[in-house]
Amino acid sequence: MTEESQLNGYRQVNATPGSLIRAEGLYRKYKNIAAVDGITFNVEPGETYGLLGPNGAGKTTTMRMLSGLTPVDSGTLTVAGIDVVQDSRSVRAIMGVVTQHDGLDTGLTVYQNLFLYGFLIGLSKSCAAKRTDEVLEFFNLRDRSKANVYELSGGMKRRLAIARSLMGSPTVIVLDEPSTGLDPQSRNRVWEELAILKDSGVTVLLSTHYMEEAATLCDRLSIMDQGKILDEGTPDQMILKHAPKEVAQVRVAPGSLRRVRDYLHKHEISFREVGALISVTGAEGVAPDLSELDEVDGVRTSYRVGNLEDVFLTLTGRELRDG
Ligand SMILES: Nc1ncnc2c1ncn2[C@@H]1O[C@H](COP(=O)(O)OP(=O)(O)OP(=O)(O)O)[C@@H](O)[C@H]1O
Ligand SMILES: [Mg+2]
Repeated sequence: MTEESQLNGYRQVNATPGSLIRAEGLYRKYKNIAAVDGITFNVEPGETYGLLGPNGAGKTTTMRMLSGLTPVDSGTLTVAGIDVVQDSRSVRAIMGVVTQHDGLDTGLTVYQNLFLYGFLIGLSKSCAAKRTDEVLEFFNLRDRSKANVYELSGGMKRRLAIARSLMGSPTVIVLDEPSTGLDPQSRNRVWEELAILKDSGVTVLLSTHYMEEAATLCDRLSIMDQGKILDEGTPDQMILKHAPKEVAQVRVAPGSLRRVRDYLHKHEISFREVGALISVTGAEGVAPDLSELDEVDGVRTSYRVGNLEDVFLTLTGRELRDG
């Protein structure tokens, strides 16, 4: 079966023209913490849109509000024109959801997880069986269909969770941290599958704290922190707007750290230190010439272009990875 034919059955977006997901002034409070603090964003049909932010940014709370699992305190939230608060049932009929923790049934096989889920969302027995075959094929999980979920690797479980979200041929899928905890190879595989889904016309909203994931998959993204969206745009726009053009990365053996720090202080070059890596951005966003440091033992300097980590740092003063 070809990828095209496997992906047949996805609903074309025929709702009101315009954004598929609209969040306006979306707000949710837990005790005295605003987990989601009045965010506004739109996801257009066919787009892959990312919420990029560290631990506690409010990504999962946003996703859960969309799925109708967490109440909305205030603001509006619609999917294909349907109000999530008024009619989360209709929203679920056109939206696939992959939660941060897969939520697979570990007492069941791969096949049963898919088939029973299809049945639960209202497919007839024969439709559920047909769709199970299609998604197994697409995710290359057919040879594991009889395996129990607890026998699967982390990457396979994640792919099964994504496969399950596609049982109802959704128009839009919402993925909370699709590749967190996966090894690089499994992560690439998930990315590749998401890219194929996007090509087939599925709209994707994903959350992530990996800048590489956001840069690879997202047409547009929001930088989220402490319940707020700090800015929004395409990855390139965000980098152009907020990141330096060039960053020097000085990898320093522990014994030479003091010498390198002294050199940078003496030349009034500001820097950031993360473990054995010192990052330097000069004035005008261009890294200064650090060739003199090459003479220090255990020092290796390389240069890279600005990225989304730098964007986050500029916007918050903190590293994305710090959480
Ligand atoms: N059920 C809850 N009860 C109380 N506080 C909560 C609850 N769920 C989330 N929070 C708080 O809301 C804030 C946002 O949490 P959320 O899980 O949405 O963040 P996140 O961006 O998904 O983080 P992570 O990357 O760790 O998954 C955090 O301060 C969190 O402690
Ligand atoms: Mg989360």
